[in-house]
Amino acid sequence: MKIHSENLTRSEAYKLLTGVVVPRPIAWISTISNQGRSNVAPFSCFTFVSDDPPMIGFNCGLRDGRRKHTAANILETGEFVVNIVDEPLLDPMHRSAIDYPDGIDEIELLDLPSVGSDLIAPRRIASSPISLECVMDRTVIFGRSGAEFIVGEIKLFHVRDDLLRNGKIDSEQLRPLARLAGSVYGTLGDIIRIDRSEV
Ligand SMILES: Cc1cc2nc3c(=O)[nH]c(=O)nc-3n(C[C@H](O)[C@H](O)[C@H](O)COP(=O)(O)O)c2cc1C
Repeated sequence: MKIHSENLTRSEAYKLLTGVVVPRPIAWISTISNQGRSNVAPFSCFTFVSDDPPMIGFNCGLRDGRRKHTAANILETGEFVVNIVDEPLLDPMHRSAIDYPDGIDEIELLDLPSVGSDLIAPRRIASSPISLECVMDRTVIFGRSGAEFIVGEIKLFHVRDDLLRNGKIDSEQLRPLARLAGSVYGTLGDIIRIDRSEV
């Protein structure tokens, strides 16, 4: 089957893309507004974009033509935390994607244990295995949807002690959760190791 992209509506293209780019890691992003209200929401259009300095980026769409709370807070304060989602965090992470009204403190509402960050104002999720304290570097807009790709520099990595071996993250121990299309998630499944000398 061939699908020419010029014949696709935006929602058809979204459906295809979210099924094609799988599995996606989930950045559970905590922010704070200038009024001091905490917000947390998941974003799976997420990757790293630089290792020198370490930088990550995620895509934040518009809702009814306006910035979502996450993007609005980051643009206001310049700061955010990326909390990595493991299997036990599925339920609270999924519930945090609900569009709560302005002015609600979502960390409080969802009863999520949180910890103050070391360098920035947004709190981090206490039970997240890895949290990245980030300072916004830039936003980039691609295409016509108005969605913003927000890039942040990681200033501090918080990594649960049992996950780090010789400077590397033990993925099996991490048990990361991945997003497939819609409300469908995946776990790591079988891990395949190939001897590097063969490539
Ligand atoms: C697993 C998951 C991944 C998501 N990924 C994205 C994403 O990459 N970009 C986006 O704009 N919204 C994404 N969403 C939807 C937002 O989480 C949702 O719009 C949320 O209400 C935004 O919250 P906020 O207004 O508090 O920022 C995702 C939702 C889920 C459940």
